Amino acid sequence: MGLRQNQVEMVSTSTLKSECVDCHKEFNAKVIVLFGKPKIPEEPRCPGCQKAYEEKLEEQLQQEQRRADELRIKNTVVNKCGLKYVAASFDSFKPLTAKHRRMLEISKEFVAAPAGSLFFYGLAGRGKTYLAVAIYRELINDADFWPVPDLLLHLRSELRIKGEEEAIRPLKEARVLILDDIGIEKVTDWVRQALYVVIAYRERNLMPTVFTSNLDLDDLEERIGDERIVSRIAGMSRIIQIDGPDRRNLKEQKQ
Ligand SMILES: Nc1ncnc2c1ncn2[C@@H]1O[C@H](COP(=O)(O)OP(=O)(O)OP(=O)(O)O)[C@@H](O)[C@H]1O
Ligand SMILES: [Mg+2]
Ligand SMILES: [Zn+2]
Repeated sequence: MGLRQNQVEMVSTSTLKSECVDCHKEFNAKVIVLFGKPKIPEEPRCPGCQKAYEEKLEEQLQQEQRRADELRIKNTVVNKCGLKYVAASFDSFKPLTAKHRRMLEISKEFVAAPAGSLFFYGLAGRGKTYLAVAIYRELINDADFWPVPDLLLHLRSELRIKGEEEAIRPLKEARVLILDDIGIEKVTDWVRQALYVVIAYRERNLMPTVFTSNLDLDDLEERIGDERIVSRIAGMSRIIQIDGPDRRNLKEQKQ
């Protein structure tokens, strides 16, 4: 007991004249007691330099954390959306028309407070997937992204392994679900049923969902052949047509 008190006293009162490793000025370094032996730090720093040193370390740590986060986001985007969309973000989104600017605005509002759903439709190469990926990137921890044909293949295999309830659960639980390219899948009874279960669940529970499609709602209904699905999409979504040129064939865009 007596010994311990003695050690504490030494920590708080003993100092030793030392040279600061950073500014090389002399200062009184506090002596710390390690296993009963008094020591000064191996790299003694005066209080000012010590503070600056700790701030620098903290900043480096944060920078490393940011880099790790960015890498994780990039990997997720590449895995789920494809390498082509690795750079798709609100910052890199280049609006070419007034409608593009409006879409971008609507998407930013959606990301700030996901509520309701969005249905982006338009011809090929207009930037629907690009925008959907930009939304996904912003919400990456709370969202799931699926090209619909891939989702259906995935569901099929999950169904065999896990059963219906478990296979569909992630799609019900994702706070925001992004379904890219609805309407290009080969529609069978099974596909109709799977789409219905997912979409009806999200509609019933007011869960934000982003759809992209080449088809407008009338054509989508004709394609899927189930008005209950498309009527739900129409009821839950803001319908936004994406116009402008086919960006796949815009050479000047590719810089
Ligand atoms: N706003 C944008 N800014 C910069 N590049 C874009 C933008 N939108 C699209 N692009 C580029 O244009 C190409 C086509 O875009 P995207 O794949 O999003 O089209 P889409 O509308 O989804 O087409 P589809 O209906 O065929 O799936 C992509 O290579 C994409 O990188
Ligand atoms: Mg697309
Ligand atoms: Zn110093």
